Amino acid sequence: MLPLEVLEQARDELLDWHHSGMSVMEISHRSEAYSRCAAEAEADLRELMCIPRNYKVLFLQGGASAQFAFVPMNLATPQSTVDYVNTGHWSQKAITEAGRYCKVHLAGDAGGDYRRVPPQSELRFSVKPAFVHYTPNETIGGVEFAYVPETRGVPLVADMSSSILSRPLDVSKFGLIYAGAQKNIGPSGLTVVIVRDDLIGHARAQTPLVFDYKAVFDHQSMLNTPPTFAWYMAGLVFKWLKKAGGLAAVGERNRVKAAALYGAIDASQLYKNSVAKDARSWMNVTFTLNKPELAGEFLAGAAGAGLHGLKGHRVSGGMRASIYNAVPLAGVETLIAFMSEFERQHV
Ligand SMILES: Cc1ncc(COP(=O)(O)O)c(C=O)c1O
Repeated sequence: MLPLEVLEQARDELLDWHHSGMSVMEISHRSEAYSRCAAEAEADLRELMCIPRNYKVLFLQGGASAQFAFVPMNLATPQSTVDYVNTGHWSQKAITEAGRYCKVHLAGDAGGDYRRVPPQSELRFSVKPAFVHYTPNETIGGVEFAYVPETRGVPLVADMSSSILSRPLDVSKFGLIYAGAQKNIGPSGLTVVIVRDDLIGHARAQTPLVFDYKAVFDHQSMLNTPPTFAWYMAGLVFKWLKKAGGLAAVGERNRVKAAALYGAIDASQLYKNSVAKDARSWMNVTFTLNKPELAGEFLAGAAGAGLHGLKGHRVSGGMRASIYNAVPLAGVETLIAFMSEFERQHV
């Protein structure tokens, strides 16, 4: 879900952006007006996340999946060992891809049914890894780290695709953060990379230039044509977040939303969330029905009540409520009311 105000603003200026007589999609990315828009988006993101000056912000394409390959290509040599923590579907994908470019050591594994996060005391790092990679929020399983792993000076890399901007974050604890835009940032097509400046400039020779962080930085993320509309939309979302009170206010709202939904699930006889309580995601609330034969009726009834996208991912089944930043508390309350009424009718 994108914020309604953002969609309305995009609609209102779609045909005539900043009195140019053209759509933002029709304007050159090299024009002064667009460069200003792009720079403003970066400045707003920096302000929102309190990104320190020694970190670069890059706007790329290829999604988080491209970063599964380009992080190792930029940060490690073929001889390097890289440490990965496996907490679910997306960490697994990242591990498989990294294995094509370096030696992967599993530093932590929540294996099996992926319903928990290994605590810091369970993490076993290799002797000198080029970096440690983890997935703070596993979008499919609804499993989230409640802590930032301590790596004793080794650059920490995080796939924050589904948790970026969901609450305040100390960016200085990370070497690199990447995120596909399509959850809390804006439309798909844009990928944001936040990287400490000492980690760029070491890409292996085979790295495509458009994914070499140093080359991208040197060209202000416009080495080739960027996804201009998605970048513009991201800028509008950043302004909306600032107006909403920044990440402290948004984080508090997200905490309340998640607590309300988990509370309702825990109190019910029909619904069940199987994730360890200290690893429950604020963004993706997964649950099953104790009577799985009711799933179809549940989803149809929910859609009728304006509640969409509740079907769990095809690899996990069950249900999943993705309650990203733009979902208001009222939306979560509507879901809870629907679930409660459905349970009353069926239990
Ligand atoms: C945590 C996480 N990582 C990676 C991906 C893959 O992202 P993309 O489709 O942008 O490649 C997703 C997509 O949902 C995700 O949630």
